[in-house]
Amino acid sequence: MKKKILLLGSGELGKEFVIAAQRIGQTVIAVDSYENAPAMQVAHGYEVINMLDGDALDAIVAKHKPDYIVPEIEAIRTERFYEYEKQGYTIVPSAKAANYTMNRKAIRDLAAKDLGLKTAKYEYATSAKALKEAVKYVGMPCVVKPLMSSSGKGQSTIKTEADIQKAWEYSQEGSRGDVAEVIVEAFVNFNYEITLLTVTQRDGKTLFCPPIGHRQERGDYQESWQPATMEDIHLKTAQDMAAQVTEALGGAGLWGVEFFIADDGVYFSELSPRPHDTGMVTLGNTQNFNEFELHLRAVLGLPIPEITQERIGASAVILASAHSDNPRFEGIETVAIAPKSDFRLFGKPSSRPYRRMGVVVAYDDLGGDIETVTKRAKELAGKVRVY
Ligand SMILES: Nc1ncnc2c1ncn2[C@@H]1O[C@H](COP(=O)(O)OP(=O)(O)O)[C@@H](O)[C@H]1O
Ligand SMILES: [Mg+2]
Repeated sequence: MKKKILLLGSGELGKEFVIAAQRIGQTVIAVDSYENAPAMQVAHGYEVINMLDGDALDAIVAKHKPDYIVPEIEAIRTERFYEYEKQGYTIVPSAKAANYTMNRKAIRDLAAKDLGLKTAKYEYATSAKALKEAVKYVGMPCVVKPLMSSSGKGQSTIKTEADIQKAWEYSQEGSRGDVAEVIVEAFVNFNYEITLLTVTQRDGKTLFCPPIGHRQERGDYQESWQPATMEDIHLKTAQDMAAQVTEALGGAGLWGVEFFIADDGVYFSELSPRPHDTGMVTLGNTQNFNEFELHLRAVLGLPIPEITQERIGASAVILASAHSDNPRFEGIETVAIAPKSDFRLFGKPSSRPYRRMGVVVAYDDLGGDIETVTKRAKELAGKVRVY
């Protein structure tokens, strides 16, 4: 039962995953592109490599011979995962899942074309000229995203024809990897958006966490809350879609499946085959197991009998306001003294404006008011200054 896990990506989500693994005696080697990354601080060992470099990746896999390879980020030479699977390694949740989700095209075509899930109308473009045609096809307003990007990088909304050229140029600055292509999606005028944390098990049924609502700004989530208030019929639809797409990608683990809920129904948006940042709300012990514990159990093949909501909660991010190589924190006492709240500071060695440095969670008993809890989390996070 003592397994070796190679964690690819060592941010705050990885850190909580390592802590969960440490608690039940597993060994973790944490990998990232810089030293002293959050997850490295709590792991047994670490490696600093560029994970987009396939040869560097091959070398550390051969060196550590892990039982499980657990990606925590998208920017990895995931094509190599297929080869590792052939060699007998277990990729979490699967090589296909990690590879498809790093490219918006693969996952969108799988969802919309192969599975027939409802998504925003979309088209692809490889030049400014093609983008103009694509915009004509999907209509305005529409959203442009580099195929290889995350956290809103290179993303912009086109409202008039005059925005098209700018949107193309911006997408090329924000794109990672070697693909210049973008996806253009019709803007969905949703009423709210959710993350549905979904757990696939090696030998058990697929389970769903209570839905998480969230608010996005500058491409990153600002607050999340659980449960999101939603109609049963929409929840059921989202669960059906999440079950289909996770089954098509294969493997065991926790997934963050994102949906828009609009007047005309539920739209599938995208998914992460790993813990989701909005799922940090579960650090407020809103569930019997938080999202990191669920991921770990699914990875190790430990059966999960059920997921129960134990209390309601919200999370709000603590962002840095300045560049620093020795970030200072002010206002933590204000959070500490507030009842029914908690916080995490990620221990990132440096800060820059808007970098996520910590999170505040607030909670209340079941039956409490979710809006009040969310407001409290947001207000408390706003009291902390990092610079
Ligand atoms: N087609 C769309 N219509 C309306 N809002 C969108 C659309 N696509 C993205 N957004 C908004 O932008 C956020 C980030 O987009 P997403 O596709 O999830 O990219 P990322 O991979 O950067 O998280 C979404 O959570 C949503 O708030
Ligand atoms: Mg997203």
